[in-house]
Amino acid sequence: MSAFEARVFSGVQPSGNLHLGNYLGAIKRFAGLQSTHNCVYCVVDMHAITVWQDPAHLQAAIREVASAYIAAGIDPKGSIIFNQSQVSGHAELAWVFNCIARMGWLNRMTQFKEKAGKNRENASAGLFVYPSLMAADILLYKATHVPVGEDQKQHLELTRDIAAKFNNDYADRIAELDLGGEEGYFPMTEPVISGPATRVMSLRDGTKKMSKSDLPDLARINLTDDADAIAKKVRKAKTDTEPLPGEVDGLKERPDAANLVGIYAALAETTTADVLKEHAGAQFFAFKPALTDLAVAKLAPIADEMRRLNNDPGYIEGVLADGAERADAIARPVLQGVKDIVGLLSSRK
Ligand code: TYM
Repeated sequence: MSAFEARVFSGVQPSGNLHLGNYLGAIKRFAGLQSTHNCVYCVVDMHAITVWQDPAHLQAAIREVASAYIAAGIDPKGSIIFNQSQVSGHAELAWVFNCIARMGWLNRMTQFKEKAGKNRENASAGLFVYPSLMAADILLYKATHVPVGEDQKQHLELTRDIAAKFNNDYADRIAELDLGGEEGYFPMTEPVISGPATRVMSLRDGTKKMSKSDLPDLARINLTDDADAIAKKVRKAKTDTEPLPGEVDGLKERPDAANLVGIYAALAETTTADVLKEHAGAQFFAFKPALTDLAVAKLAPIADEMRRLNNDPGYIEGVLADGAERADAIARPVLQGVKDIVGLLSSRK
């Protein structure tokens, strides 16, 4: 048993079209954790600007992620919803973590390599130290559980490495100030990567992850797509010519089929095995309409609610301001502890 109080933290970047992968891999699961945990959900706007964001659109994109959280069922009164840049502790702790993380660790991050592409010299320094800020997001709240999609696994391992090195480097000081239990000052945060859709793939290529920037738009279902758009994208989704197998093993080497079955299972809140039991032997001309009906039934109400909330920016900004105040109340003593441990001098307000 950890000595740390259980707390969930996660975040989504306001960097473009929210899609089915963001929903099934993360946001839907955020909502599900509220009944059992204290939850803090962040719109990570400072992460978004590690690559160029048009300032004319960024504020709307921040409100849109908050709208998606609420539309997906996150209760802004019970859970905390806020945007990162309103709580200055994220940037402050990230700096300390930049001094803990090693260049070698950051050099191994595959997301940096993918995002920086061939021209690494021209990538922002922020993109390189992105994982330190992510570790700060999580550890500023001493979060014990972080629900994310599969693609964030390596960043969470780095978060644990940073926590362990901090706990170890400052072990004597933490003991002297009586600021840690057996595990140290920071917990070893657990990634929560579970369910049938932790890696939703492109509808045009089942070997590539569905992503915000992927073109064409047919490759992904956006959270704001209407019923016609969803139907068209499912109809045009790439498949093979075989019928669906009766067992999960039969989806091996069939990435497009596996993707559609995984999406169905996640939307229906069941397992891939159960979907196959029900649809064994079905051809895609029969399975696709069933998937469309399910996707429209589950996603259309979310899109409607997002549209409604997007028309009420004052309400969303109120939620974010209230959330920032509550987040800051948790973060401030944690950051003060870090400053004391490291030996920085600060006035106690
Ligand atoms: P971001 O904004 O790229 O994605 C938000 C969440 O959606 C998940 N996701 C997917 N899940 C399944 N299939 C997909 N195709 C898919 N695409 C995206 C991501 O895994 C993520 O959970 N670095 C993070 C944001 C972040 C964060 C944090 C997360 C910043 N600080 C602290 C957790 C804790 C990111 O870029 O997510």
